[in-house]
Amino acid sequence: MKKLTIAVDGHSSCGKSTLAKDIAKHFNYKYIDTGAMYRAITLYVLENNLYDGKKINENALRYDLNAGKINIDFRYNPKLKKSETYLNGKNVEKKIRGIEVSDLVSPVAVIPFVREYLVAQQRDMGKEGGLVMDGRDIGTNVFPNADLKIFLTADAEVRAKRRYDELKAKGENVSLNEIIKNIKERDYIDSNRKTNPLIQAEDAVLIDNTNLTMQEQANIAIKLAEEKLNEKK
Ligand code: DC
Repeated sequence: MKKLTIAVDGHSSCGKSTLAKDIAKHFNYKYIDTGAMYRAITLYVLENNLYDGKKINENALRYDLNAGKINIDFRYNPKLKKSETYLNGKNVEKKIRGIEVSDLVSPVAVIPFVREYLVAQQRDMGKEGGLVMDGRDIGTNVFPNADLKIFLTADAEVRAKRRYDELKAKGENVSLNEIIKNIKERDYIDSNRKTNPLIQAEDAVLIDNTNLTMQEQANIAIKLAEEKLNEKK
């Protein structure tokens, strides 16, 4: 049976990865979190002093990328039954979700050579189909011919509250206002950058999950994917 390529794009912290994982699980497809790749590069920038609090040292970052010093991969953790992000062989899954990385990731994701580098890897990972990839530019740039494109959004304050609850549960000491600010800033930077900004692809289906449960959003998306599969038969 033909396998689909499914793109899930949308705003920060609106549940893209939850939705993408649910779809992938239902169809037994691969799931790829492209945000984790931008986050891993951001962690590299922070850990290697390529950011002085104001400016990213782009020359050094370009050099290190070209020299093959930044290797990102995903490895399945059978205990947690999920795949985790590795940076140069080290598990960075937890570190890349913290507020320090979240604060710097959008400026890093603006840099054209960073995007070029990661988009090439993403296309390679998805060349066989049978995958759900989430991000900001998957339907518009990485896989413009994806079989199904979903654009997910939700009210910014609702997104911030969900993120706040998630971080609190993990024991992080954060303030709700700080998160609202971070989310609004990321929305702005992601949507207004020159290279592959976050925009809804013309042929994407919009899902606003402000008032939906995760199960409801998953049901909607799975139904859409099943329709696409039937069209392909
Ligand atoms: O999905 P996320 O919040 O983990 O993504 C982190 C950041 O990475 C986000 O602010 C924008 C950027 N990003 C991007 O520019 N393009 C992608 N395909 C995925 C993420």
